[in-house]
Formats: sequence, C-alpha cells, structure tokens
Amino acid sequence: MTDVNIAEITAGLFEKNAAEADAAVILGSGLGDFADSLTDRIDIPYSDIKGMPEVTVVGHSGTIHYGKSGGKRVLAFGGRFHSYEGHGMDVSLCLVRIVHELGIKKLIISNAAGGVSTRLETGDLMLISDFMSPGYAYSYRGVPKSNVRYDIKSLRPKILQLAAENGIPLQHGTYFYVKGPTYETKAEVRAYRAMGADVVGMSTAPEMLEATRLGISCIGISLVTNMATGVNTGKLDHSEVKETAESRKEDFARFVNKLIQSDI
Ligand code: HPA
Repeated sequence: MTDVNIAEITAGLFEKNAAEADAAVILGSGLGDFADSLTDRIDIPYSDIKGMPEVTVVGHSGTIHYGKSGGKRVLAFGGRFHSYEGHGMDVSLCLVRIVHELGIKKLIISNAAGGVSTRLETGDLMLISDFMSPGYAYSYRGVPKSNVRYDIKSLRPKILQLAAENGIPLQHGTYFYVKGPTYETKAEVRAYRAMGADVVGMSTAPEMLEATRLGISCIGISLVTNMATGVNTGKLDHSEVKETAESRKEDFARFVNKLIQSDI
C-alpha cells in the first residue's frame, strides 16, 4: 500500500495542463531559480495539486514549474521530499514515480552536495558518474537485478563534451548518499573519501535507483555548495549551501537547458 496516490497527482497535473513533457527536472537546494530560464511558464504550488506531499526544507519552494526550454516542454519540481524529513520511501520517491506515470523519458536530478574529494572546490558542478548508497534500505522488493543500476558510462563523454562546447566547467565523480540531516563527522568524510566518494549528499541516489528501475534515463548533477566536514576549516550550515547555489545558478540553468535541448 502506498501513502502517495500517484494517479491522483498526475490527474491534477493534466487538469492544469502541466503534464505532457519531454523532460523533467528535480531541482536541488537553492537551485529553484532554474525555473526563470523557462519560457511560457506556469507555476503551480504543490499545495494546489491534490495528493502532493508538503515541502518543509528551506531553499525548496514547493512549486511545480511547467514551461519550455527551446522547443522542449519541461516539468520542473522545485522541492523534493528527503528521508531526513521523516518521509517514507513512497513519499521520497514520488517525484520519480510521477515522471514515470506521465511517460516522461528524460529526467535530470540535481542536488546540493558537500565536496569530499580534494580535487573539487566549492562552486563546482559535477556530473554524477556513479553513486554509493550503503545506508539506504530500498523499498522495492524483488529478485536482485543487475539492471537496476545507474550506468551512464556511454553518455558521460557526450555530456562532458556538451559542457565543454558551451564553456561550462563540469567535473565528474561519485556521489555518496547519506540519510542526514546531520552533516558528516570528519572521520566519516575520511572514510567516504577512502571508499572512493567525491561528494556527499542527502538525496538523489534513491531517486536514481528508482528512475533506473522504472526505465527512465536519468542524469544526476551535483553542485558542490560546500566542502564536507574537515576537508577545510569553517563552520558548515545550510546558509552556505544556499549562498553557493545562488552564485552558480546561472551556469547550472544554462547547462540543464543544454542537456534538455540535446538528444543525449
Ligand atoms: N553533506 C551532506 N549533504 C550536503 C552537504 C554536505 O556537506 N552539503 C550539501 N548537502
């Protein structure tokens, strides 16, 4: 039994003429201004869609933005539902399930993340080439499957080339999922780095797993909004995350628009 009625939500989106799209985007903390780059846009508060859960995190507007990027129709979600807010997986994964129910084939998942690798800097955009989610209990039950795996090896060169052609610096690396909401300890960050993590964050990996299971092609992008605990000195809090997102939002929007308009 699911807590979220996906069919009810998608019916609400059809009613608002905001359902048919070529691509969907989940906007991470502080990245909601991407919506301003869409043309012919309508904004729909989540609370206007029957059945949609409520957003509680600062930096997430809780708004659906439906508009155009070039000739492509885009459905963008300004706000997601994290496990650390106490949501069960049915709520946390509902945006991906809405995208699937609507038959949208392309999904771009973005997030704010902490830099773990010393080759990264605050403000870097990073393509998620792979991820680890050891602490995540996946809600889907079934026979273990190797195809329920995010694998963008074949897309990676094309995505990096697209960024380079447009003069957008883009790193690539491995995302490490933690449930949060506490930031990591120094020891944890050291351990994650030794395990091969480049960034750490509190979302995205479950969404990517679910998108992959449902056959949606998804691309993950992290914005390094801060260096993770102990990587450099300084206090870590959510306001730093928002400030960095603010300073990089234009490149982020430009890149996501390029991805939407490309045939990647
Ligand atoms: N750790 C975990 N999640 C995050 C961080 C971090 O340092 N920054 C933004 N999201």
